Amino acid sequence: MNYIKIAAITVLAVVVLLLGALAWMRFGPVRRSAPVEAETNTSISLPEPDRTDGLPLNAALEARRSIRDFDEVALTLEEIGQLLWAAQGITDPRGFRTAPSAGALFPLEVYLVAGNVEDLAAGVYHYDPSAHALTPIVEGDVRSALAAASLGQSSVADGAAVFVLAAEYERTTRRYGGRGEIYVHIEVGHAGQNIYLQAASLELGTVAIGAFEPDRINELLGLPEAFVPLYVMPVGHPAN
Ligand SMILES: Cc1cc2nc3c(=O)[nH]c(=O)nc-3n(C[C@H](O)[C@H](O)[C@H](O)COP(=O)(O)O)c2cc1C
Repeated sequence: MNYIKIAAITVLAVVVLLLGALAWMRFGPVRRSAPVEAETNTSISLPEPDRTDGLPLNAALEARRSIRDFDEVALTLEEIGQLLWAAQGITDPRGFRTAPSAGALFPLEVYLVAGNVEDLAAGVYHYDPSAHALTPIVEGDVRSALAAASLGQSSVADGAAVFVLAAEYERTTRRYGGRGEIYVHIEVGHAGQNIYLQAASLELGTVAIGAFEPDRINELLGLPEAFVPLYVMPVGHPAN
């Protein structure tokens, strides 16, 4: 009799532990694979973004156009910071951002491929929204290689800088299952549109590019395997 009781209690305890573990996996804190190496003191602080001024919204909506031809004028660090803030900047003490995110799970990571930016060495950088800072990942100008990975689209090589929006799907799918994939795709559209509108506000040009080879981009930018690049957006001064 005692044996039966002990066995029953053991089975119950195992079931409770298993259910607890499953609940933790589904609803516990979001695990993020490090987007890059841990943030280090090599982080580059960006100028504080302008949170109030700029082109009126309706004027930015009216001006937004896909621009594929750029001149050789460099972008400033202020412009880069403003564009990154528009894409994924934090605008609320709870960590909420300029773009909405299903369940506030924030699956997107923004990478900057700098080529012709004042006071910023050519290279690949990761944007840290909470510090509003850049972490260097790869040294050197990889815009031409990125253009080659984007089916040879010259706009990617010609932009002074290129913004790459990547996602770690698991942050969203672990809560929302297959529907989470749709959410991630919707979210990158929000962030991409924010870059478009910010570029219009700064009188810069950009184009949202979806035609590229993701694996080549992962390799080039040193992205973790779980990250999938979804948008490539070159930015520069429109050619006259
Ligand atoms: C999902 C998506 C993928 C796109 N991919 C490319 C692309 O690979 N290359 C490109 O030059 N434009 C690309 N575009 C931009 C469209 O060509 C552009 O939005 C369209 O021609 C309308 O022009 P507009 O943006 O000026 O209104 C893409 C747009 C979207 C929404």
